[in-house]
Amino acid sequence: MKKIVVVGCAGFIGSHLCEELLEKGFYVIGVDNFDDFYPKTIKDNNLAAFTQHKNFEFHELDITQASKLKTLPQFDLIVNLAAKAGVRPSIQTPNDYIKSNIQGNQNILDLLVNRSVKKYVFASSSSIYGNTSEIPFREDNPCNEPISPYAYSKKTGEMMNYAYHKLYDISILNLRFFTVFGPRQRPDLAIHKFVKLIKNDTPIEMYGDGSSARDYTFVADTVDGIIKSINYIFEQDTTFDHFNLGNHYPVTLKKMIDTIYSTLNKTPNIVQKPHQKGEVDITFADITKAQNKLGYNPETSFENGIKKFIDWYEKTN
Ligand SMILES: NC(=O)c1ccc[n+]([C@@H]2O[C@H](COP(=O)([O-])OP(=O)(O)OC[C@H]3O[C@@H](n4cnc5c(N)ncnc54)[C@H](O)[C@@H]3O)[C@@H](O)[C@H]2O)c1
Repeated sequence: MKKIVVVGCAGFIGSHLCEELLEKGFYVIGVDNFDDFYPKTIKDNNLAAFTQHKNFEFHELDITQASKLKTLPQFDLIVNLAAKAGVRPSIQTPNDYIKSNIQGNQNILDLLVNRSVKKYVFASSSSIYGNTSEIPFREDNPCNEPISPYAYSKKTGEMMNYAYHKLYDISILNLRFFTVFGPRQRPDLAIHKFVKLIKNDTPIEMYGDGSSARDYTFVADTVDGIIKSINYIFEQDTTFDHFNLGNHYPVTLKKMIDTIYSTLNKTPNIVQKPHQKGEVDITFADITKAQNKLGYNPETSFENGIKKFIDWYEKTN
């Protein structure tokens, strides 16, 4: 049985990934430090879904502490989803992002070398494409003009991974996620925030004129892409690659808001605010490469995903 370390296992995407890996017969070594970006109670609830599984073990530790990472049992592959996430907060506290996303990644790379493990899957982000890329974003677009500390922390992670692939022949896939949503979505993310406010009949703030767009990807599709990447990496002798795990279907901010209002059967009450610095205008994934090489095929439409998120929200709040 293959042993997979999932770093960031108590988070939104990590908890769904662990459940699916256990379901598929992997042994999962979960790692998380309950970072205070959002409340621990939410992460405890995320973990509760699988923490009793016989093939799961949990290690509460911080990846920025290399000595703690060394206490992990031996494994076959690491998936690193641990990060300070969020674009806007990264502008306020850039050093926190450098610590978790860059120093933390360095410690994981060193652990792989130390354990002679040659397989690594890294959570990158569509934000690395910035505002300058051709649309839709292809993996080989230049992406050297990030516009937030979060974005440059992820781009740096990808470059560190390349160096370790070259130096130590570690097979590494950098997976570029595109605004992931669905049950357990982080409370700081727009869909979650808006559903909460609209249900309470509180007006919502829309930044910009509503024309900015995101390639929202349902979490089950992202997780399917991660698992296909894990299987792919086990099949290769050696590999280094980037994959867009998006939905190839950008939705404008205005449409996202309208969809939530209509699904909740509420009358729109929107206050327009200036565009926020650091946020890109559009994300739009070309997923041809992931389709061809990984067999990745996102299945959940934006509208169905919103319904599933709202069902979950209503059951848990
Ligand atoms: N959610 C999205 O839309 C999205 C989009 C692009 C990229 N990503 C990336 O995907 C990954 C997962 O995102 P998420 O939305 O599930 O975020 P999340 O915050 O819900 O999960 C991240 C988990 O990592 C843990 N963590 C943070 N720093 C840590 C550290 N130093 N040591 C150990 N654990 C630590 C946190 O406690 C948290 O449980 C992140 O790397 C994020 O940057 C997410």
